[in-house]
Amino acid sequence: MRSARWAVLALAASVLCAVDAQADGDAVAGKQKAYTCLGCHAIPNYNNVYPTYRVPRLGGQHPEYIVAALKEYQRGERNHGTMHAQASTLSDQDMADVAAYLSAAPGPDHK
Ligand code: HEC
Repeated sequence: MRSARWAVLALAASVLCAVDAQADGDAVAGKQKAYTCLGCHAIPNYNNVYPTYRVPRLGGQHPEYIVAALKEYQRGERNHGTMHAQASTLSDQDMADVAAYLSAAPGPDHK
């Protein structure tokens, strides 16, 4: 299993250039899984269908924070209908993958 994990990391690194070696998630898989998220969570160079809709920026956020927030929405510890619905559909692996992708995406400092 260990070598499989390293193969995944190597693949992610080759695609993204910058990959957090601590991350358990697969950023390449996360890019597919994060597709719906990006409609609301604006990341520079992605289209936001709601330009005036205020949502937290996720690009460049710490992966641990993203996973923790998603689990809180899923368990109802954070009370938000939309994000509860989003988080309910995600497995732990989905969350790790999405977090790995989003944390490697451009943060607020990139324009
Ligand atoms: C329909 C719009 C919408 C979609 C789609 C959406 N979100 Fe959100 N998200 C929001 C809003 C609005 C908030 C702020 C909620 C609050 O105030 O707690 C939020 C909050 C969050 C937060 C907490 C950020 C913080 O700084 O505390 C995370 C993490 C998050 N979303 C991840 C995701 C992921 C991952 C997906 C895709 C699976 C996703 N969201 C899809 C609207 C959306």
